[in-house]
Amino acid sequence: MDTSRLDSCGWSSFRPELFFDEPGRKSRQVGPSVLNIIEKYSPGRRILDLCCGGGALSIFLAEAGCQVSALDLSEPMLAVFRKRLANSDPRIHQQVTLVHDDVCTFDLGQKFDFIILEDDFFGYLLTDQDQVACLSRVRRHLTSNGRFLLANKTPDIEFGESSSYDFDPQTRILTRPQDWTTVDPNGKRTTIRKGIERRRVIDPDELNRLLDLTGFDILHRWGDLDQTPFQDPASQEYVFLMQAAQVPPPPAAETNQD
Ligand SMILES: C[S@@+](CC[C@H](N)C(=O)[O-])C[C@H]1O[C@@H](n2cnc3c(N)ncnc32)[C@H](O)[C@@H]1O
Repeated sequence: MDTSRLDSCGWSSFRPELFFDEPGRKSRQVGPSVLNIIEKYSPGRRILDLCCGGGALSIFLAEAGCQVSALDLSEPMLAVFRKRLANSDPRIHQQVTLVHDDVCTFDLGQKFDFIILEDDFFGYLLTDQDQVACLSRVRRHLTSNGRFLLANKTPDIEFGESSSYDFDPQTRILTRPQDWTTVDPNGKRTTIRKGIERRRVIDPDELNRLLDLTGFDILHRWGDLDQTPFQDPASQEYVFLMQAAQVPPPPAAETNQD
């Protein structure tokens, strides 16, 4: 498996155990909000959780009765996922399938009712080609009335997150030092590893163009996973709920997507 995309965006420097509820570390509680969206808008419960990381969301959804395929390119992250799964209710084990693969090239030979790409992952795809390849893979794996949920930070939040960064306006790639930190039960923070993070700042017009090119219709534009309507500049995230457009993308776009 080619894992070079983990190096390009900086994920290889990450310490995956941080996603396994280290003492005092706040875990993201997006499960109930995502489940709410699934219950309201998904035609079924076959879910694909892309870039699933340590699996908190996938396991939450499986516990809620979903059949979840969870994909990630990092073997160490999947190891954290397996550990968490082993500690979960054995009745859900059959409902979770782990996949070691790349979002830009995966081909699972099945379709899903609901595909999730959240936690700001889209910004880790650093080129037009990778972004189009990923969106194209998603479209091919959606059932005809399936839904695709994409959540990513807005440019204001990307730039506001740290005071020291390099930004290349040509590529829109932002490079910044990334300190991986634990927080103990008293709130004391300890930096345990330093690395570099590289993200592509997502311009809204460009995102709309890519979604159009790859054959998606946007059904809802929210500013968070709680379905607050998107408001510029107040919203911190683009949260789009989409479906595959009736008209497939032009063949030229399809060819570019592999
Ligand atoms: C922000 S983390 C996701 C964390 C996850 N939401 C959680 O709470 O555990 C991003 C994930 O994307 C994965 N990743 C990075 N590049 C990838 C790629 N090209 N294909 C698949 N997964 C990738 C990383 O290994 C990492 O687990």
